[in-house]
Amino acid sequence: MTTSRETSVAATVAALSDIVGPQACLTAADDTATYTTDYRKLYHGQAIAVVLPANTDEVSRVMAWCYQHDISVVPQGGNTSLMGGAVPDASGNAVIINLKRMNRVLEVDAVNDTMTVQAGVTLHAARAAAEEATRLFPLRIGSEGSCQIGGNLSTNAGGTAVLRYGNMRDLVLGVEAVLPDGRIYSGLRGLRKDNTGYDLKQLFVGSEGTLGIITAAVLKLMPLPRASSVAFVAVANPAAAVSLLGEAKKTAGQSVTAFELISRPALDLVLAYLGGMKSPMEGAHDWMVLIELTSGSAAESLDQTMVQVLEAGMESGLVLDAAIAASGADAQNFWRIREEISDAQTRTGGSIKCDVSVPLSRIANFIAEASAAVLALEPSARMVVYGHMGDGNVHFNPLRPADRDSKEFLAAHYKTISHAVDSLAHAAGGSISAEHGIGVAKRDDLARFKTPVELELMWQIKRALDPKNLLNPAKVLPAQ
Ligand code: MLT
Ligand code: ZN
Repeated sequence: MTTSRETSVAATVAALSDIVGPQACLTAADDTATYTTDYRKLYHGQAIAVVLPANTDEVSRVMAWCYQHDISVVPQGGNTSLMGGAVPDASGNAVIINLKRMNRVLEVDAVNDTMTVQAGVTLHAARAAAEEATRLFPLRIGSEGSCQIGGNLSTNAGGTAVLRYGNMRDLVLGVEAVLPDGRIYSGLRGLRKDNTGYDLKQLFVGSEGTLGIITAAVLKLMPLPRASSVAFVAVANPAAAVSLLGEAKKTAGQSVTAFELISRPALDLVLAYLGGMKSPMEGAHDWMVLIELTSGSAAESLDQTMVQVLEAGMESGLVLDAAIAASGADAQNFWRIREEISDAQTRTGGSIKCDVSVPLSRIANFIAEASAAVLALEPSARMVVYGHMGDGNVHFNPLRPADRDSKEFLAAHYKTISHAVDSLAHAAGGSISAEHGIGVAKRDDLARFKTPVELELMWQIKRALDPKNLLNPAKVLPAQ
């Protein structure tokens, strides 16, 4: 005997297969497993089906069908969310729409300095297409080979070049998105000036797939850097790093492209994880920064500018030691150390990921206070603290003591430590999620840190676009 649920699941699968083709409507557990679990394997869900549409029209028809039949939809790009934002819950009542087949670069307009891409284009492919036209698409994050432009937009991704170029919100000119009921918002305009009322595209940016599914976008392109200098620098403490950043901006102006903080436990962890790789500097230092200067002019000698910044820093006692990359390979190795910190933590397990931002003027104090609070709770925690200091964004990620089981450490400390860190960031005028978003991981915390008016407005916007609450339900917005 078949139940009514089985009948409706079968009807859904048949209807969706009809729209996208049976090959692009996955239902077998073996086929859906990589889509129902996040890449860190922390969030496990189930789905009626995973559909892989080939174009916007198919996305629209799938959405319209699901809307008419009250079926939830979870949009998904490269599934690299750190917050459980792109996988369904365990009910098995949702359909996943994964955009990976919509992976075409539609146009590169080198005169307008824009490119139009489908949402499933990986960040790596977008950057490569821009480079082919001697342009830069400046978003730079470690997961660029897997993450997709749609996901980058829907999470307002940041990364290591925000200091110079801004985050995804700043890098987008136009968006096409499918609304929960299947209607298409067509905003694929490549305009730097367009004051015609509400900026609707920005509603979809950073909303983590709760208001619509981004299917294509017009992105800004920049001149390709022609000169660069990269240095690994030991500083006395985070306050010295902030002062050094101020000095670097004074001397190198806009050329300061990245300014990344790395604590010693973060460096130790990544060097252990990478094997053969060595620290760029001889001595052991508690705090380091990775500085990158770039310029669109090949005539500029940025190594000279870097030396000037570092010499002044040494004289004033801000800089303890420094290594300037002597080659492209050196620069790549410096960057590799920084970019592998995330994976090194995933491999080790037992990392409490807090992604906070505070005004630069208060960041050093915040790091001191948050470190003291964590160490009071767990004196042997490894203080993996790193991130985009130039943007006031710290990945403050206390890690389990080496001899402690990961699950047991998280069970004992996840809530208390993340609440302590978030509360201190909030008290310092900061945010509990600088660039990783909210997903499910931080959803309930939002209720503590947003004002009632902010939460009410968020829900009013959600209800206006998604009155049945079907799109990426139970993500971002805390229950009312
Ligand atoms: C990073 O800056 O490495 C990323 O935000 C990822 C992470 O912190 O895990
Ligand atoms: Zn980051």
